Amino acid sequence: MDSFAFILHPLDPKADVARKYPNLARLLPVRAIHFLSLYWPPLVLSHVRSIRSAATGREVEGCLLACPLTARRMLEVPPRVAYRKIIQTGRLAERLGARILGLGAYTSVVGDGGLTVARALEIPVTTGDSYTAALSVQALLEAAGQVGMMPERATVAVVGATGAIGGACARLLASRAGRLLLVGRRADALEAMRAELSAGANGPVEITTDIAAIRSADLVLSATSAGRPIIFPEHLKPGAVVCDVARPRDVSMRVHREREDVLVVDGGLAQTPGGVGLGFDYGLPPGLTFGCMAETITLALEGRFEDYTVGKELDIGRVREIQEMAARHGFRLAPLHCLDRPIPPERIRAVAAYRQQM
Ligand SMILES: NC(=O)c1ccc[n+]([C@@H]2O[C@H](COP(=O)([O-])OP(=O)(O)OC[C@H]3O[C@@H](n4cnc5c(N)ncnc54)[C@H](OP(=O)(O)O)[C@@H]3O)[C@@H](O)[C@H]2O)c1
Repeated sequence: MDSFAFILHPLDPKADVARKYPNLARLLPVRAIHFLSLYWPPLVLSHVRSIRSAATGREVEGCLLACPLTARRMLEVPPRVAYRKIIQTGRLAERLGARILGLGAYTSVVGDGGLTVARALEIPVTTGDSYTAALSVQALLEAAGQVGMMPERATVAVVGATGAIGGACARLLASRAGRLLLVGRRADALEAMRAELSAGANGPVEITTDIAAIRSADLVLSATSAGRPIIFPEHLKPGAVVCDVARPRDVSMRVHREREDVLVVDGGLAQTPGGVGLGFDYGLPPGLTFGCMAETITLALEGRFEDYTVGKELDIGRVREIQEMAARHGFRLAPLHCLDRPIPPERIRAVAAYRQQM
């Protein structure tokens, strides 16, 4: 049977380390977890026995691996140190017989987005960012529809628009948005993007380096690698819909507590074919997985053992292709979730009702 491997790593030091080592996580202070993570060897988290394609009946198996570096350490250490650890984990995947390797969370964010890792390994690599981008735009549009908002009449802001996922989402949203607002840190990169997108856009494309400008947006998609909250209650328009793709999240917990009029949805979540589980509790309800993991499994089901999404510039053709392939094999956009929990219908009705009164 063909097989895949997928690399995870701790985002929340205490909660994520506790999933594998509950006692150790209880005993060690967070500081020690960050420190030790650099020296902990890669390990197998689970063996996935069989995932079956809804289209072909083909079955694949795989494993989830941990690259123990915490997200904070991943950003602190020089990229070559992070690469070494990720490549070490990739070699474990090779020894286990994987034919394709997916890079989860910051293992695809650091440095050059998987290019160095792909060059160092014998097996092909994908960051999974293409399907993550497709699912995130789908989730934002689904949430907009459920509260009665038409993107064509809305200002849509993309935060982290010069990043891999943010850039792809901006490209997908340009043909739908009434007005597109690209938010980033580098004015020159934003300007280049504005020039590229303006030609085929549905409405005006504007740029800003000031996060406070998203106050004018009805729909917000945020996909930065800030590693800490950057969107606070005062940044959001009344009745806004926000899709938070980032892990760690971009939207502050204060938004969840203080802004009942705002709907926040998780980006990049898929339902697995037949709701099959992947044998390890990575914090999502059973039957759900991250877009990056779903992309890796889709490529294995498709028999596409090649470097698929690598680097920071995503190919929109591939974003659309992986969306089609994933759907064919039985992956679906997950029902709307917030903070990894299903959003109750009454919560969506409340935001829709608020918007009607506006
Ligand atoms: N939900 C999922 O399934 C899933 C899957 C994969 C990835 N992700 C998450 O998606 C996010 C983006 O991933 P990516 O691969 O697109 O990363 P990326 O290519 O490195 O892009 C990150 C973007 O964030 C911006 N940024 C970094 N720090 C910032 C800060 N302090 N304030 C404002 N902007 C900041 C960067 O700006 P510059 O362009 O100026 O550097 C860049 O545009 C990450 O949080 C990642 O963990 C989620």
